[in-house]
Amino acid sequence: MAKAKNNTLKLKFDSARNYAPAPESKSVAKINPRYDLFINGKFEKPLSKKYFATINPATEEKLSEVADANAADVDKAVKAARNAYDKTWKKMPAKERAKYIFRIARIMQERAREFAVIETLDGGKPIRESRDFDVPTAANHFFYYAGWADKLEYAFPNRKAQPLGVAGQIIPWNFPLLMAAWKIAPALATGNTVVLKPAETTPLTALKLAEIIQEADLPPGVVNIITGAGATGAAMVNHPDINKIAFTGSTNVGKIIQKAIAGTGKRATLELGGKAANIIFDDAPLDQAVEGVINGIFFNQGHVCCAGSRLYVQESVAKEVIRKIKDRLETLIVGDPLDKNTDIGAINSKEQLNIINRYLKIGVAEGAEMYQGSGSIPSKGFFCKPTIFTNVAQSNRIAQEEIFGPVLTIQTFRTDDEVIEKANNTPYGLSAGVWTDKGSKIFNLTTKLRAGVIWANTYNQFDPTSPFGGYKESGYGREGGLHGLYPYVRLV
Ligand code: NAI
Ligand code: MG
Repeated sequence: MAKAKNNTLKLKFDSARNYAPAPESKSVAKINPRYDLFINGKFEKPLSKKYFATINPATEEKLSEVADANAADVDKAVKAARNAYDKTWKKMPAKERAKYIFRIARIMQERAREFAVIETLDGGKPIRESRDFDVPTAANHFFYYAGWADKLEYAFPNRKAQPLGVAGQIIPWNFPLLMAAWKIAPALATGNTVVLKPAETTPLTALKLAEIIQEADLPPGVVNIITGAGATGAAMVNHPDINKIAFTGSTNVGKIIQKAIAGTGKRATLELGGKAANIIFDDAPLDQAVEGVINGIFFNQGHVCCAGSRLYVQESVAKEVIRKIKDRLETLIVGDPLDKNTDIGAINSKEQLNIINRYLKIGVAEGAEMYQGSGSIPSKGFFCKPTIFTNVAQSNRIAQEEIFGPVLTIQTFRTDDEVIEKANNTPYGLSAGVWTDKGSKIFNLTTKLRAGVIWANTYNQFDPTSPFGGYKESGYGREGGLHGLYPYVRLV
């Protein structure tokens, strides 16, 4: 009986995977064969004279090439930002500044489809996510902070909020446009000017944002966008005329940055890695919780700093929850990121795929049990099957280290105290999820879990009005909301 039931399920899932393709058209995406550096309101050839390619990780095809900024290029961008700060931006009435930020938001909405397609082509994420999450949320951040620009006296009553000067902003490849918006919008609203560097595998939407900035007629130099890899980022961190570094990326680089700026007077916010616990109690609505777990770990291929990568499920419902997760793995469609049916797109780069595959081997060698759905993955491009590990020990590396891929570890617990201890037993502290019917349990856990963001009976909810950031090795400083203004001002 049970067997027959499984077979019907399997049949249904197979047909789900065989949906007719529904690819989004690439025709809206205008990508130049080559991009220079956006400095002082214009695209300028790099002094380095060097360029590097950015590819589509789903096909391994080259999309474009972008400039590789060296220290002299960084210096040129910082000078442009300083000049714009001194001569125009810091003197401009706040309500005028706000108009420019609103304009960026509106143009981004108008060009949303183009941005979504380019984000998906350059980074590999499913078009459904770039279309419904990345681009609209990025536009919302500009709208939200535009609103704050002339209301800072309400944000900081009885204090005067002064800008810091030039902000150097370094962002990762998992949410390229959204991270640019998180960084640029509050900096501009508070009167700072910006030099921003996107990650080397996903520079294109930031360069498209440069086109919006031109179209919005921002005074030249207020936002400068330069491309390059780690060396370019390091040149920004070490530049003496940058007042603030805002970084999102790996904990390792975060530590390097912190050492480099010690004693310089530069301010910093560091948004680093995570290893979030997603906790299911036996009184939780289990189907809803399983959806939350699937979304928590497989959203954006698991390339999410706040991904729910460690599942803790109460022992009495563990068997049922694991079966439901395995069933759900069968329905996930891994494939062409431009296809609107796709749930899991391409891994962002070959390097990242190698990291993930290494962790899969480590997990097996540590004695955990690996399980993957029966669906196939494309042979070309960088893809990884959604994977779960059971029989995991708290000390296993797969349960301790950030994998940054579609890989979930599953452990069980019996009591509240036990799960709090296990959840907190990590060097990270960015986010967590709690699934239970009892409000009192939610409050108990949210006060005891050491994580910056805790979701209850939901996961991965983001809003520009809500602050985001971590504890411990997940970094410090908050982005979003009123809290997100603070790192960009000096209060007098
Ligand atoms: P990464 O931290 O090296 O890259 C992030 C950004 O920092 C990029 O723009 C990069 O060019 C820049 N960068 C690199 N070295 C730098 C330096 N010395 N000084 C200044 N800027 C520098 O991250 P990577 O190597 O791409 O990914 C490796 C691992 O990091 C991932 O497997 C994942 O675990 C973690 N990661 C976490 C992110 C998060 O949001 N928490 C985002 C990206 C990566
Ligand atoms: Mg790329």
